[in-house]
Amino acid sequence: MANVLVTTEMFPEALARLRAAGHQVQAPEKGRLSREQVLRRLPEVEALICLLSDRVDEELLARGRRLRVVANLGVGVDNIDLSAATRLGIAVTNTPEVLTETTADLGWALLMAAARRIVEADRDLRAHGFPGWTFIPPHLGVDVWGRTLGVVGLGRIGTAVARRGKGFQMRVLYHSRSRKLELERELGLEFRPLDELLSESDFVVLCTPLTPETHHLIGARELALMRREAILVNIARGPVVDEEALVAALRAGELRAAALDVFEREPEVHPGLLELPNVVLTPHIGSATGATRRRMAELAVEAVISVLAGEKPPNLVNEEVWPPGN
Ligand code: NAP
Ligand code: GLV
Repeated sequence: MANVLVTTEMFPEALARLRAAGHQVQAPEKGRLSREQVLRRLPEVEALICLLSDRVDEELLARGRRLRVVANLGVGVDNIDLSAATRLGIAVTNTPEVLTETTADLGWALLMAAARRIVEADRDLRAHGFPGWTFIPPHLGVDVWGRTLGVVGLGRIGTAVARRGKGFQMRVLYHSRSRKLELERELGLEFRPLDELLSESDFVVLCTPLTPETHHLIGARELALMRREAILVNIARGPVVDEEALVAALRAGELRAAALDVFEREPEVHPGLLELPNVVLTPHIGSATGATRRRMAELAVEAVISVLAGEKPPNLVNEEVWPPGN
């Protein structure tokens, strides 16, 4: 029997599965544990199931003297000090694939909302009522179909975003760390260096992980390359965009609109973004459907059960730690 600490309220079936495997499980009934609560409990714990908003740094990992696995409830692992985990022999797992289509849907929901000014229109209708059909309404938007989509980071989610673009008869450009020749052929995608993608696209959707290379990938210079009529969608990680520069570009009218699911200093949202009517904001809900969150929980539970049984877990991020004691 091992001790498993879950930092968030969790679906009962996921907790039941851990207990059925013979483990002692601690999880809050509501909300999430604070960092202090996690630090206090860690010395007794063999497995940690955590959120991407938990900062799993060296201090925290070192407190887990018995810790063998950290299962992150998300695909991005930028919240975890991977090299410290590897040094300490702690397996880190994530939840790829199961959230890909759900996150791409949200990216598209944001894109459509910004293009057709859905949030502004809804807000105005509630505040002022429906004044009756007019030919030139205050919420004239832009077409999505047939225009140019630029996907930055053509991985699992980026590809799912690009596929949807084809359904809207769009020309789809992409920029990624490496060329994807098979996808280019299959979907008719066109590779572009980042600067060219930015200057040619009507919609730019960011789908990269957060790494030292992608931090502020989109800053003042890149925003200036975008078309004045373009819309920027960020479903990657907040710090991929220089938020200060984005607010300045939107204020100056250098960009038509932005739609953001992620923020540079979550859970803080730049006050400038809150003031702008042409910005659509969602609180990091890319993967937030009931079915997908359940699948993510299942993957984390499977990873923990595997490691505690001495088996290589699915979705091991730091392969170097396996087999343990190697
Ligand atoms: P993935 O399959 O690993 O795709 C990431 C892609 O980004 C890869 O194609 C990679 O290129 C590319 N890339 C990496 N560094 C780059 C760089 N410097 N410049 C250009 N492209 C670069 O990951 P995924 O499953 O699609 O997830 C991507 C990210 O989305 C996650 O890491 C997470 O941060 C974010 N996400 C957000 C939400 C949300 O709720 N908003 C939900 C899920 C995920 P290569 O193929 O050449 O390596
Ligand atoms: C969500 O942001 C994730 O990385 O899964």
